[in-house]
Amino acid sequence: MGGSRLTMTLWMLSSILILLTLSITLCSGAILDNVADLNKLNLKFDFIVVGGEARLITSRTMLIYLSSRGTAGAVVANRLSENPDNSVLVLEAGVSNADVLDIIVPFFAPRATPNTAVDWNYSTTAQVGLGGRSIAYPRGFVLGGSSSVNYLAYTRGSKEDYDRWARVTGDEGWSWNRLIPYMRRNERFTPPNTTGEFNPAVHGFNGINTVSLQGFPTLIDSRVIETTTELAEFPFNLDMNSGFQLGIGWEQQTVKNGSRSSSATSYLAPEFVARPNLHVLLHARVTRVLESNSNTFRTVEFVQDLAGAKFTLSARKELILSAGSIGTPNILLHSGIGNSSTLSALGIKPTHNLPSVGQNLTDHSLIFLSFLVNSTGTWEDAERNATLAAEQLAQWTTLRTGPLIDPPTSQLGWFRIPDNSSIFEQFPDPAAGPNTAHYELIFASGLFGVPPPTGNFISIVPAVVSPASRGSLTLQSNDSLSAPLIDPNLLGSENFVISPFGVNSTDSDDELDEFIRENGGSVYHPSGTAKMSPKGANWGVVDPDLRVKGLDGLRVVDLSVAPFIPAAHTQFAAYMIGERASDLIKEAWG
Ligand SMILES: *[C@@H]1O[C@H](CO)[C@@H](O)[C@H](O)[C@H]1NC(C)=O
Ligand SMILES: *[C@@H]1O[C@H](CO)[C@@H](O)[C@H](O)[C@H]1NC(C)=O
Ligand SMILES: *[C@@H]1O[C@H](CO)[C@@H](O)[C@H](O)[C@H]1NC(C)=O
Ligand SMILES: *[C@@H]1O[C@H](CO)[C@@H](O)[C@H](O)[C@H]1NC(C)=O
Ligand SMILES: *[C@@H]1O[C@H](CO)[C@@H](O)[C@H](O)[C@H]1NC(C)=O
Ligand SMILES: *[C@@H]1O[C@H](CO)[C@@H](O)[C@H](O)[C@H]1NC(C)=O
Ligand SMILES: *[C@@H]1O[C@H](CO)[C@@H](O)[C@H](O)[C@H]1NC(C)=O
Ligand SMILES: *[C@@H]1O[C@H](CO)[C@@H](O)[C@H](O)[C@H]1NC(C)=O
Ligand SMILES: *[C@@H]1O[C@H](CO)[C@@H](O)[C@H](O)[C@H]1NC(C)=O
Ligand SMILES: *[C@@H]1O[C@H](CO)[C@@H](O)[C@H](O)[C@H]1NC(C)=O
Repeated sequence: MGGSRLTMTLWMLSSILILLTLSITLCSGAILDNVADLNKLNLKFDFIVVGGEARLITSRTMLIYLSSRGTAGAVVANRLSENPDNSVLVLEAGVSNADVLDIIVPFFAPRATPNTAVDWNYSTTAQVGLGGRSIAYPRGFVLGGSSSVNYLAYTRGSKEDYDRWARVTGDEGWSWNRLIPYMRRNERFTPPNTTGEFNPAVHGFNGINTVSLQGFPTLIDSRVIETTTELAEFPFNLDMNSGFQLGIGWEQQTVKNGSRSSSATSYLAPEFVARPNLHVLLHARVTRVLESNSNTFRTVEFVQDLAGAKFTLSARKELILSAGSIGTPNILLHSGIGNSSTLSALGIKPTHNLPSVGQNLTDHSLIFLSFLVNSTGTWEDAERNATLAAEQLAQWTTLRTGPLIDPPTSQLGWFRIPDNSSIFEQFPDPAAGPNTAHYELIFASGLFGVPPPTGNFISIVPAVVSPASRGSLTLQSNDSLSAPLIDPNLLGSENFVISPFGVNSTDSDDELDEFIRENGGSVYHPSGTAKMSPKGANWGVVDPDLRVKGLDGLRVVDLSVAPFIPAAHTQFAAYMIGERASDLIKEAWG
């Protein structure tokens, strides 16, 4: 229901209109379901139905922060509310993360999405690189954003990834070395922390987000690790999170005592949500940010019910948009912040010309490959035997032990194609540097998806982690509640051939290409749709301090600001952006 100011006003006149009066008094923070609940909590939100504009009368809210879908937003909410003089409200579009078994049990991660109550249920446009297929594109519709629904891998990428961020933005603060304090603030490494499976020297033990190693052995562990001693091209890496990522090692994962650690369970844990100056409103779907004064965007518009009224709230200091790489550009575009000529053509009144919004969408591609093995003990056993599955769940429930305490993936490997590969004669190396991976191999003791009636399997999943292709996020209409057009352009450039596992060695390159296009998919790591660029650059969406270029009052704090996608699972980078942004915001306000 977005659109030009005129049509917006007409729409509003025909709707129930609401004036919100907000005066925050000292009382316990809380996670709330309904704007009306804030009222009951003695927060003095008064609803007055009038004919006219929806307008906020008074607000003593210092900072309004919008989570909606991002991992990083919860970090900012936590860090800013450390200061009792700041008052923070989180608007979350989705549902509560509490009691959702499929997101709490690490092994159930594949059940969390797509098309569930905790998913935005997006799909991509027809992907040329995938033979014209459109694929589901899950994003967390739940507190904690996609950190609540991902597969829990916690990988930093390479030192070079972040040093490139610093180089491209002209801000040393984004370099690996300068991010180390934030790594330690984020990370709370806890048992299982087996000696020989990680390097304690490069980890934080007192942060907020719990990270640990595999807690239950799988059938492939010893085989994968043995390979590293037998084949020189697959070396062992004690700790892929040291800054040097290449080789095979044990996966580090966001698991706390057998349950998922997300930005919701960690940064919005009960002891933080109890702060009197922190409030979280669920089911609050942000439709637009609105211009309060010339070039100042500190007002947010949201709905609690798709057919219902629009609410607006203004922040005294800043609006922080942490809606993720899909949500953030979608909200900006509906607000008129984007390519003015494209927006006009859609019937959206341009408010600020920033043509990079939504452009440069970058993602990792993968292909699930599985192999029949001569064994029992892979996870298909429990998928075919309800009694065994029930036993495993009972064990997890009562003791937090057994196979369900880990995500499905066990080890990860990070590799480069040879330096003398002919592709480098035609294309520059897309990796951040000579020690950054082109591709990843993900090892797992079972087959992803519905298993055939018999047989046991393992999976080795290759993923392109330094992609050359770029896609885009655009709008299909001026209805701010409609889904955007998501084109990650998977395998869209002349890519490095993914390892030919799982296909016959006699197959030709063309046959391999076809197999990959018919079966490939995404790791769901969208990033870069609101990129940072140097201050004054004629491209990009935010400055290196994450303020939207040319505007006051509005910052973006999520993975959409990444100038390049790191060669890593992306939750770590989102946490880094959240931690550093918190310091930048604190500095800005003294
Ligand atoms: C969307 O654009 C169409 C075509 O320009 C226009 O008729 C319609 O009123 C617009 N709707 C909104 C909500 O702005
Ligand atoms: C996604 O689909 C599920 C199942 O139909 C539904 O419960 C959920 O609300 C949908 N998500 C959104 C954002 O509409
Ligand atoms: C593992 O964690 C425990 C408890 O935090 C600690 O005492 C121990 O030293 C750690 N072990 C290693 C190898 O880091
Ligand atoms: C804005 O979009 C138009 C197409 O609508 C395109 O021709 C133009 O190049 C874009 N502007 C920039 C600066 O990217
Ligand atoms: C895409 O990103 C590159 C830097 O990686 C930048 O040079 C280019 O201008 C961006 N394109 C748009 C449309 O913003
Ligand atoms: C499976 O392993 C058993 C025991 O080692 C062996 O006898 C059998 O030949 C193997 N089957 C296949 C198909 O390799
Ligand atoms: C299913 O699992 C139960 C419990 O572990 C086990 O006793 C039973 O033999 C299994 N059934 C089959 C057909 O393997
Ligand atoms: C882990 O969870 C189990 C089951 O709820 C509980 O008994 C145990 O005390 C917990 N351990 C830690 C270290 O919190
Ligand atoms: C690359 O170098 C390796 C050994 O260093 C050699 O075996 C291989 O043939 C070379 N490949 C190309 C395409 O030159
Ligand atoms: C490999 O070859 C066998 C025998 O020709 C065939 O049945 C199988 O489908 C092939 N597998 C793939 C992935 O092409």
